[in-house]
Amino acid sequence: MTTATARAYPNIALVKYWGKQDEDLILPVAGSLSLTLDAFPTTTTVALDAATGTGTNTGIDTFSLNGAVASTDATGRVTRFLDRVRELAGSETRATVTSTNEAPTGAGLASSASGFAALATAAAAAYGLDLDRRDLSRLARRGSGSASRSLVDGLAVWHAGDDAHSYAEAVAGPDMRMVIVTVDTAQKAVSSRAAMRRTALTSPFFPAWISSTEESLAAMLEACAADDFTRVGRITESHALRMHAVIQSCDPPIRYLAPTSVAVFDAVAALREQGLEAYSTADAGPNVAVIVRPEQAEDLRDALAGFGSVRLVGAGDGARLIDAGASPA
Ligand code: DP6
Repeated sequence: MTTATARAYPNIALVKYWGKQDEDLILPVAGSLSLTLDAFPTTTTVALDAATGTGTNTGIDTFSLNGAVASTDATGRVTRFLDRVRELAGSETRATVTSTNEAPTGAGLASSASGFAALATAAAAAYGLDLDRRDLSRLARRGSGSASRSLVDGLAVWHAGDDAHSYAEAVAGPDMRMVIVTVDTAQKAVSSRAAMRRTALTSPFFPAWISSTEESLAAMLEACAADDFTRVGRITESHALRMHAVIQSCDPPIRYLAPTSVAVFDAVAALREQGLEAYSTADAGPNVAVIVRPEQAEDLRDALAGFGSVRLVGAGDGARLIDAGASPA
């Protein structure tokens, strides 16, 4: 049996990915930029067994998440991903995938990003693929677009482009912390994948979203290079609100932000007026992530504690193998 275990952390985008130009290859309509976190990891073990039970003989992969057998949909997504790995490895061996996720799944804390980054890293090792970080990022992208960025430590830019060039890599930028305000842990009603597709197909604003994201990313990269936290923050907040605007403009409309989410955006704007410089963003769910300078992070956390559970996080590592090796069956 060959097993490998990897750990990956979620990332929160400061310039968002929303829309694909190729759904099979998961190529985005525009580049994006994120911060990999140091909390809420996913740890995944991939075990191959060519000889018995769960291996080739049964013809299926098995997937368990947080100690329970995963849904048919989730298992299907893992199998399609492993098919890509098997194609690269020239293998037909099935796998047993065991995953634990410390973030509430489906609540907009990017569990698919940490999930596929960990799976890509563990599966590549278990199937004996020798991939560098760039190719692991390209591989993780095939599971979930945002997972490409969880291969990278800290700030990561994920490039748009063709399959060979659409990977994430590190960028230098201002030191920051993030306060995650968990407003609601319920599974979202419309998955980001489905909502993204609906936005591209039905929003009259989608072409403008693409061009404005390209502009925001160019401005964000300049702001990062200049170590300019204020500019990074302004772009972050306005780009997040633009994403939610384009999502709300699709047919039928989708609204991810809850009244409490909007209240957090307003509270953060009010704190800025008082000299606590912070900026909000939110993914495809009601939870809000707020960036802040390190020296003001604890004050921000305390100020937002009334809106939900709050967690102060920092920049974390890209996906890493934590245990690898072929052991005798
Ligand atoms: C709102 O990466 O989950 O978090 O590629 O279809 O799996 P798929 O989508 P996914 O979308 C993430 C969208 C987002 C913004 C972002 O992380 O950039």
